[in-house]
Amino acid sequence: MNLALYREFRPKTFDEVIGQDYIIKTLKNQIKSNRLTHAYLFCGPRGTGKTSTAKIFAKAVNCTHSFDGNPCGMCAECVALGEANTDIIEIDAASNNRVEEIRDLREKVNFPPVIGKYKVYIIDEVHMLTDSAFNALLKTLEEPPKHVIFILATTEVYKIPATILSRATRFDFRLVPMSVLVEHLKKVFDTKGITYDEKSLYLIAKAGEGSVRDMLSIADSVVSYTDGNLTKEATEKIIGLSDRDSIKEILLNINQKDINSLFITIKKSLNMGKNIQVLCKEMADFIKNLVMIKSGIEDYSVLDILPGEYSDYLNLANKFDIGYLKLAFSKFAQIELDLKYSLNPENLFEAACLSLIENVGTAPSVQPKPTAQTNPPVADKPINETEKLWGNVLLKVKENNLFALANALTTVNNVKRAQNTLIITTNDSMSFEMIDNKDRLDVLLKLAKMFDEDISEVKVEYDSKYASTQDIKDKLKDAFKSKISFK
Ligand SMILES: Nc1ncnc2c1ncn2[C@@H]1O[C@H](COP(=O)(O)OP(=O)(O)OP(=O)(O)O)[C@@H](O)[C@H]1O
Ligand SMILES: [Mg+2]
Ligand SMILES: [Zn+2]
Repeated sequence: MNLALYREFRPKTFDEVIGQDYIIKTLKNQIKSNRLTHAYLFCGPRGTGKTSTAKIFAKAVNCTHSFDGNPCGMCAECVALGEANTDIIEIDAASNNRVEEIRDLREKVNFPPVIGKYKVYIIDEVHMLTDSAFNALLKTLEEPPKHVIFILATTEVYKIPATILSRATRFDFRLVPMSVLVEHLKKVFDTKGITYDEKSLYLIAKAGEGSVRDMLSIADSVVSYTDGNLTKEATEKIIGLSDRDSIKEILLNINQKDINSLFITIKKSLNMGKNIQVLCKEMADFIKNLVMIKSGIEDYSVLDILPGEYSDYLNLANKFDIGYLKLAFSKFAQIELDLKYSLNPENLFEAACLSLIENVGTAPSVQPKPTAQTNPPVADKPINETEKLWGNVLLKVKENNLFALANALTTVNNVKRAQNTLIITTNDSMSFEMIDNKDRLDVLLKLAKMFDEDISEVKVEYDSKYASTQDIKDKLKDAFKSKISFK
């Protein structure tokens, strides 16, 4: 049975849109004060409400009985616009990206609306338009008829030409925070009469990774598998998380150099249907939490654990030496990608465990010491490997629509490498605070690993003495043909 919860729970009013408070407030104000502009750009990650908000907006500007900026859903206009109509025109640019189609649109925009005051064009995936189609669109945006509003939506805003950007009011949709997702999921389940325990809510919300749509479709599969009675165990199983007990046991086996039990635990875990790659990722995540807890972090927004689990983790963390935990973390993080391509992932995983056993007790702290190269690079030096890697990471950050992060990273003006740690320096304290966050550094680590698997840590430093170092930015700009821009 597929419920398609994400379709059933498409928001119908602004008030039902979650996690985009600033955008919703601004749009409502524009409607209430009748200060609309002719072109809007909705950008941001998938499944965060761009299309839904565009449709609500299209109705709201035509509604004759709107309340607090919301469409009423009952007036003649709302009813007519709820059905097939010619006033709200949705264009999927992915399949209508040619210049002919935009020219066609340019002719049709001149016809006045039939139902209400405005004709609203919603152009989804607008980044898919060809150059000539963009040019044609630009002409319309330059002098739009009074009765027309354009809403352009995209997940890849950096592909939109500056000429278009400068003519549209831009709204950046954000990934929705965990707590808001949990609250939403709770409402959805309660409405559907689905029973659940608190932990499954967290697990599903977490698996959604900030996208409401992704969360709801994951919820769908969990619900159909469990017949609407969600337990933590069932949820974990479906989402593919390894059970925590095996992870703990493997960790203990290694620490006690108990090879016999180690092999048995791994076998047992695999026999239960665990995927070795998932197991490895879970090991890395789990150990990372132990490292953080051992380093004194108590903040749930930084730690990746469920409420109430802290004392369990702390007890376990106290069983180990921090050097061992750091080593184990980097080991499992490192082989995570290798596993994907390995012909015998099980062997690879076991070999990693064995090599850890050899290091138990003798493990030095793996905290790499910065090398001698602490000065900013000199202007005429050609781009080095580390800088090239950093440039690639920057491009990936942009490709993944991490706007806020990308923005903060434009202030980075020194990049160096100390053993397997990538150290970036910014002279901007606000940007430093933004980047120096576990989740964000994790993202950077993941991206850096795509270009160099050996990298095991990304660190950010704040140093005002690089205030005038323009050098690395220039080099990157050259090397990446201006695909990267800086403040
Ligand atoms: N902010 C939100 N509030 C409530 N529900 C949301 C939100 N964002 C997404 N959803 C849910 O996800 C579904 C899809 O959302 P929508 O089509 O608006 O996302 P989108 O941002 O346009 O995604 P894409 O970039 O993939 O087109 C909605 O029907 C709704 O169930
Ligand atoms: Mg959309
Ligand atoms: Zn209405």
